[in-house]
Amino acid sequence: MDLGIAGRTALVCGASKGLGYGCAEALVREGVNVVIVARGAEALDAAAKQLVAVAGPSGPFVKHVAADITTEAGRAAVFALGHDFDIVVTNAGGPPPGDFRNWDREAWIKAVDANMLTPIELIKATVDGMAKRGFGRIVNITSSSVKSPIDILGLSNGARSGLTGFVAGVARTSVAAQGVTINNLLPGSFETDRLKGTMAGAAQKSGQDFDTVWEARKKNIPAKRFGNPAEFGAICAFLCSMQAGYMTGQNVLADGGAYPGTY
Ligand SMILES: NC(=O)c1ccc[n+]([C@@H]2O[C@H](COP(=O)([O-])OP(=O)(O)OC[C@H]3O[C@@H](n4cnc5c(N)ncnc54)[C@H](OP(=O)(O)O)[C@@H]3O)[C@@H](O)[C@H]2O)c1
Repeated sequence: MDLGIAGRTALVCGASKGLGYGCAEALVREGVNVVIVARGAEALDAAAKQLVAVAGPSGPFVKHVAADITTEAGRAAVFALGHDFDIVVTNAGGPPPGDFRNWDREAWIKAVDANMLTPIELIKATVDGMAKRGFGRIVNITSSSVKSPIDILGLSNGARSGLTGFVAGVARTSVAAQGVTINNLLPGSFETDRLKGTMAGAAQKSGQDFDTVWEARKKNIPAKRFGNPAEFGAICAFLCSMQAGYMTGQNVLADGGAYPGTY
C-alpha cells in the first residue's frame, strides 16, 4: 500500500534506537523526510547514517539534532532548523522502574516533564501550523501501562495517563476538521534496551535472575514473543498515512495480545 506521505517532513523524537528508530525508518521507507532527535550524539549519528542508507541517493532527507527533547533548549534547537513538520512522533524514553515510596517530588516532576509535558509542548508548537496547511499527523509513543498498569512503572502509569487525557480532548478540537489527527501508540513488550532495563529492575525486585524473568514475560504474551521495532514502526507509519485520516484520538495497542480485555 502506498501510504501517500512521500515528500512530507517528520520530526521523530527519541530515535537513535528502539521504537523511535523503528518509526523513523518506516517513515523514510515511505519517502518521508525525517529529523531525528536523541541526546547521545554518537548513536544518533550512526542512526542517521543508517537512515540515509535506507533512503538511498535520491530519497528523502535525513537530519539529526543531538538534544534533550524534554528541555526548552532542546526543542528550540529542533525548531531552529525551520521545518514545517507534517508529522510528529513524540517519544523521550521512559521513567525508571521502582517503588512509589521512594519517589519524591523531583522524580515525579521529571517523569511528568518527559512523558506528559514534552509531548504537549511539541503538539502546541506544531498543531496549528498543520491545521493551517490542512494536513498533520501526531503520534505519541506511550505505553500499554496506560491501559494495564505495571506495578514497578508507577511513574509511567501516572505521567502517561495525564497525556492520554489531554490527547483525548485536543484531538477532538477544531484541528480534527482541518486534516490533523492525534493518536497514541501503546507498546506492550518490544525487544529494545528499554525493555532490558525494565526487566533487570523486575528481576532485582523479585530476586530472580534476568533470563528467568525475560523468558517468563514472553510466555505470558499470547504471541509468545516480544515485538520488534520494525513492526512497531510500520504501525506508526500507517497512523501517519493518508489512509488513516479518519482515525483520531485513539489509543492503539501493539502488545501481541497481552492486554486481556475485550475492549
Ligand atoms: N520497549 C518496550 O517494550 C516499551 C514498552 C512500553 C513503553 N515503552 C516506551 O516507549 C518509549 C521508547 O522505548 P524504547 O524501548 O524504544 O527505548 P530505548 O530503546 O531506550 O530508546 C529510547 C530512545 O529515546 C532517546 N531518548 C531518551 N530520552 C531522551 C530525551 N530526553 N531526549 C531525546 N531523546 C531521548 C534515546 O537516546 P538517548 O538516550 O541518547 O537520548 C533513544 O534513542 C519509552 O518511553 C518507553 O518507556 C517501551
